[in-house]
Amino acid sequence: MPSISINGYECQFTEGQTILEVALAHEHEIPHYCWHPGLSVVASCRICLVEIWAPNPRNDNVLEEIPKLMPACQTPASDGQVVYTDSPKAVGNQRAVMEYLLINHPVDCPVCDQAGECSLQDYSYRYGRSASRFQEEKLKQPKKDLGPNVLLYSDRCIMCTRCVRFTREVTGTSELIVEGRGALEQIDVFPGLALDNELSGNVIDLCPVGALLDKDFLFQQRVWYLTSTPSIDGITSGGDNISVEHNNGVVYRIKPRTNPEVNGWWISDEIRYGWEFVHDESRHRLPMLRDHLPWEPEEASTAWGESLDRAVEGLRTAGRLAAIISPMLSCEDAWHLGRLVRELDPEATLVVGPVPVQGEDKSFPGGYTVRAEKAPNARGVRRVLAALGGEVLEFDRVGEACAGAGGLLVTGNYPSAWVTDALLDSLGDRFVVLMDTMPNRLVERADVFLPSATWMEKSGTFQNVDDRLQVFERAIEPVDYCKSEAQIAIDLLARHRGESSTWFNAALARQQLASEAGLSAFVTDVQQPSVEQSAESDMQVVDL
Ligand code: FES
Repeated sequence: MPSISINGYECQFTEGQTILEVALAHEHEIPHYCWHPGLSVVASCRICLVEIWAPNPRNDNVLEEIPKLMPACQTPASDGQVVYTDSPKAVGNQRAVMEYLLINHPVDCPVCDQAGECSLQDYSYRYGRSASRFQEEKLKQPKKDLGPNVLLYSDRCIMCTRCVRFTREVTGTSELIVEGRGALEQIDVFPGLALDNELSGNVIDLCPVGALLDKDFLFQQRVWYLTSTPSIDGITSGGDNISVEHNNGVVYRIKPRTNPEVNGWWISDEIRYGWEFVHDESRHRLPMLRDHLPWEPEEASTAWGESLDRAVEGLRTAGRLAAIISPMLSCEDAWHLGRLVRELDPEATLVVGPVPVQGEDKSFPGGYTVRAEKAPNARGVRRVLAALGGEVLEFDRVGEACAGAGGLLVTGNYPSAWVTDALLDSLGDRFVVLMDTMPNRLVERADVFLPSATWMEKSGTFQNVDDRLQVFERAIEPVDYCKSEAQIAIDLLARHRGESSTWFNAALARQQLASEAGLSAFVTDVQQPSVEQSAESDMQVVDL
């Protein structure tokens, strides 16, 4: 395998990789701003210039220095190259570039949202000068409202043009342009346009400095307080890999997690901002009984106890049962609910809840697809229910399922209204246990309402539109007194059997799916999240 040397370390590479890609693959840092793996290479920022010595085939392959520094992001690796990023010439260039970039930069890190995750800040410590030599007045650039989600602080911009290339190459919408010349260059929207395509929020992640900011996250949190939990899109069927960033049980933002086989580096704005119902004020947080006054928060334990008892009693005595299992639930939720219903009534009818579809899939030139199906796990729920045996009905046959049943177990967990007139009409006066999150017409109708947890508040597995099984982890505790559907099913089953309940464990449920339901893929083919490790700062922490 061909190899190059980077600062004395031998690094093997595959043909076609650039020096920067080889360095990053071997965890050697070369500073870079304009390069991004999902965009074309423009080599404009010049921070990545390196000193290269290469064998000269016209001189017996004697190593000779390439007479000028070369951009590591654009120069292909070739066998035998010797690369220095820490030679006096390379270091001199890094310092010069940093000095130029900071000449007109306001250095307003204390009030900048990007502080703590800013390449300019990090590289300034690692590659810059400790003090500015610039005595003159700094140029001031305007703040701009680029669209519904993004603000531009022009004077923090380093003109890497990642955002401009994104709108040209990935979305094909070309809303962003470079306007002006020299020190007066600015990013702007094309006259008459706004940055409002379905993927617009990705420019915020792409910006290596604090120039493009998320209106939704503006001044909400310092990023070093945030904990990042690997998760999967719980809004659409795409299975996009995401990180849920949260602090003290509150989610503040969603970021894409790189997965070249699913979402690349991007997520849609729908996924980025569609989670906010998790903390919606109107969300139900306590159980409710139809003929009972609402409980107060301090009565939560009584509320759960009485509601679970009423649910078990009602379902036991209802005769034939039917269960509507929502495609918003995880495979593990579906497994526990299915087992519960089948133990209460081995002939119970299982129905997959409504699968919302809006329009058609929309693919962008950069390869990203916004999915029309607005449920993360219809395929997984169908697969698990089918493994429990018997026919699994789609929601358009819910009337048929209700007609033969005396009691129903219904699950929702949709971010918006989902209950149809047809469903309400089909229920008649049957006994209904509802597990749901947001207010809807079925909450008042249900004999027992049990507040459930969104996907961010539990762990589990979703099967996406390409039948890929992906695990997501619990980011936050269930809000207030909510519980996951799987935990509620375990509690109900324990009450039915007269046993004490156990805690839900997603890994154990996957093992049961493999051993008891014959779905070995839940052990062998499940993709666990891979978490990118960020480099630890080598700055010394000073106690003040
Ligand atoms: Fe190489 Fe910008 S990263 S020139």
